[in-house]
Amino acid sequence: MAKSAESWGSRLGLILAMAGNAVGLGNFLRFPVQAVENGGGAFIIPYLVCFLLMGIPLLFIEWSSGRYGGKFGNHSTPYILDTMIKGRVFKYIGVFGIFTNLAIVAYYAYIESWTLSYVYHSLRGTFEGMSQGEVAGFFNSYVDVTRSSTGIPYEAIVFYVLCLAFNTYILSKGIKGVEKVAKIGMPLLILFGVVLAIRGYTLGDSGASALFPDANAWDGLNFLWTPQYDSLLNPKVWLAAAGQIFFTLSVGMGTIHCYASYVKSKDDIALNSVSAGFMNGFVEVVLGSAIVIPIAAGYLGLDWVINNAGFGMAFQTMPYLFQQWGPVLAAVGGVMWFGLLFFSGITSSLAMGTPWLGFMRDEFGWTTKKGAWSFGALALFMGLPTVFFFQKGVFDDYDYWAGTVSLVFFAFFEVITYSWVFGMNKGWEEINAGADIRVPLAYKYVIKFVTPVLLGWVFLASLPSMLDKITHQDTFNRDSFAEVYYAENFDRSGNALGTVEEVNPQYIKFSFEN
Ligand code: PHE
Ligand code: NA
Repeated sequence: MAKSAESWGSRLGLILAMAGNAVGLGNFLRFPVQAVENGGGAFIIPYLVCFLLMGIPLLFIEWSSGRYGGKFGNHSTPYILDTMIKGRVFKYIGVFGIFTNLAIVAYYAYIESWTLSYVYHSLRGTFEGMSQGEVAGFFNSYVDVTRSSTGIPYEAIVFYVLCLAFNTYILSKGIKGVEKVAKIGMPLLILFGVVLAIRGYTLGDSGASALFPDANAWDGLNFLWTPQYDSLLNPKVWLAAAGQIFFTLSVGMGTIHCYASYVKSKDDIALNSVSAGFMNGFVEVVLGSAIVIPIAAGYLGLDWVINNAGFGMAFQTMPYLFQQWGPVLAAVGGVMWFGLLFFSGITSSLAMGTPWLGFMRDEFGWTTKKGAWSFGALALFMGLPTVFFFQKGVFDDYDYWAGTVSLVFFAFFEVITYSWVFGMNKGWEEINAGADIRVPLAYKYVIKFVTPVLLGWVFLASLPSMLDKITHQDTFNRDSFAEVYYAENFDRSGNALGTVEEVNPQYIKFSFEN
């Protein structure tokens, strides 16, 4: 294998690219929904514990594995694992770190393309004078490609192809292209995010109307931030928190290994990994929780938010709420909100492309251009089902199996191989080599014992819900009004009804019709 000369241009570039990889649609669309569905303040403690005991350790493992593999000219998990531990099995499991990305990008880039289209429509003033119902209807007809009445026929497909083409073009410029996009996108994202979050923090009850006289943004913030200790014993909340930590930090996917393989062997990874991880946390917890939920609560009330939590809120509600600011500010708000979503999305979807490029080069000597175009073509091929069958729940299946189960599986495998096969003494040396901070020694033991046990538990405790998925059933908690409402009315993609069966007074089981 030829030693690749590619590496990050600067430390700032590396941190912004890694933060860009982590900061994504997950921070703004997934986190608020997960928090609301899991009891608001009840969610935040498990979330922080999972961050410290699983998130940070996995960041250390993946950054150091990546830099280690990079020394030998490897840029994808099969080869990186192969350099660390000899043995075919490991190499094959490493393939997860490539294909998970392809499966995720297929639906992820689709949402990313919506944000692009919504920037366009915010600028054009499409939402001007629309009622809340009309804004929601616009979204529904947008994703229903065959009946699209948004003004451009097959608009969703047009923007999807555009979005993938854009990703492909940047990837064809190699790691330097990714770095450049992060350097432009991340500061803009933070700027837009801060402005919108200030609106969220200051809206108060000034959005209340005759229809929603009690609406108050502070109710949304209090709901998210008042800790509720009783739910600490609820495994469902812990699983959701762990899942969110994995998804949001992009661990268990192979993208961090790949980015870290371009770090020079003498450069720090300890401080860098923690910085990128905290930046993601800041964007998620401080900015991500201060936009959709409080702004929606400020105009429509907290009850409405709880009953309608879903990521459609970002597209079905926000453009309508921005209209309350007058036409000019509505356009500004729309461009900022969807623009920030777009930047967060593209810096993540680019990350999902790099393991494929790295692998094709390591294994077959493909050029960056060839890798990029083949990636674009594959993503398009795998993504078309989500575009055409969006209403049929294909989307949810991708997100569940690729965006959740596979991450936990791969992360569990990784932590075991790192601390028990590669060996924790060697591992600890790798983490600390070139380090600009002293990593607390406790982490050596956390990585060796605590993280694997927790991860194993998460995996085992998720088995029942995996079975439910396979058998097209879902169990809902009666305490959660949102879930029951959802279960009694819709299938997972929001249309056809299924049958509801009572398991016990606490839980109901929902069987989907197909
Ligand atoms: N971490 C990203 C987010 O929060 C998602 C992601 C998944 C990024 C896989 C890279 C790889 O949206
Ligand atoms: Na994230």
